[in-house]
Amino acid sequence: PMPDRVTIYEVGPRDGLQNEKALVPTEVKAEFVRRLLAAGLPVVEATSFVHPRWVPQLADAAELMTMLGDAGRDCPVLVPNDRGLDRALELGCRHVAIFGSATETFAQKNLNRSLDEQFAMFEPTVRRAREHGLDVRAYVSMCFGDPWEGAVPVEQVVEVGKRLFDLGASQLSLGDTIGVGTPGHVTALVHAFVAAGMGTDQLAMHFHDTYGQALANTYAGLQAGITTYDASAGGLGGCPYAKSATGNLATEDLVWMLHGLGIETGVDLEEVAAASVWMAGRLGRPSPSAVVRALAPA
Ligand code: HMG
Ligand code: MG
Repeated sequence: PMPDRVTIYEVGPRDGLQNEKALVPTEVKAEFVRRLLAAGLPVVEATSFVHPRWVPQLADAAELMTMLGDAGRDCPVLVPNDRGLDRALELGCRHVAIFGSATETFAQKNLNRSLDEQFAMFEPTVRRAREHGLDVRAYVSMCFGDPWEGAVPVEQVVEVGKRLFDLGASQLSLGDTIGVGTPGHVTALVHAFVAAGMGTDQLAMHFHDTYGQALANTYAGLQAGITTYDASAGGLGGCPYAKSATGNLATEDLVWMLHGLGIETGVDLEEVAAASVWMAGRLGRPSPSAVVRALAPA
């Protein structure tokens, strides 16, 4: 049985923009976030409080959150460590996300930590965030494959993912960072997490569309009972520290399929597509999303 309703967790302003080479002006980012919220997206991840040298595009995180003011208060932001949490707390953020790696190589490349050391970095950050009454999401990357290590065993993903979640998160987002997953793998991974004691309501899926599998993978996720999906307006995205990571699943492609299945999202598809077309104009290239192209006025 399919769920009646799905929560779309929009990551366009963060995952979508973090890989853009040319700096996007802060006002443009703020307008993008506002348009996505206005389109009915229930959660819009706004930016990251990471080291500005690691992700120069998001070095304006404080300016962006200040510019958004109350409108951005419930927008989640990425924080890798205590320094990131301090910056987010100063701005009144109420939702933060840590982001761990299921593999050793990506932990080194993305966090400058070993697989084991990442927990020591996240533990005090999550504890302190919870003491301040913040909600914490945990991401785990490279759940389906890693560009350096190849296939990633399901048991390894479950072990790392559970450990990250158990630090005190309310949700665990399973990332197919490089988009190599296929539907049978999604089913197996979800079942393994459930067998390890996690509820489908505690899990979210985060698909990148590198191999064009994101919608098929979403369908497998729906059949396995998952009701939260990460997506990026217009299909923007990619991780600067993951070779071969391309765009996220486009929000419009996801909404088209869900609404076709009779699953409610609360999202106005035309308005999201209009936001993506507007953003594509700012970035100077068309959206790769099939649905955005199909809906665009001739
Ligand atoms: P590090 O160099 O090991 O940091 O980087 P450190 O702890 O050794 O500190 C070094 C200096 O950086 C210190 O300054 C710190 O204060 C400063 P100094 O004392 O030398 O003057 N510093 C910071 N400054 C500002 N904000 C901070 C911060 N932290 C330390 N938060 C670190 C470690 C984690 C910071 C670094 O590796 C980093 O920023 N990584 C972020 C990489 C990233 O953002 N990747 C993209 C997001 S993940 C993703 O896209 C995947 C996802 O979408 C899911 C999926 O698709 O799978 C989520
Ligand atoms: Mg991602």
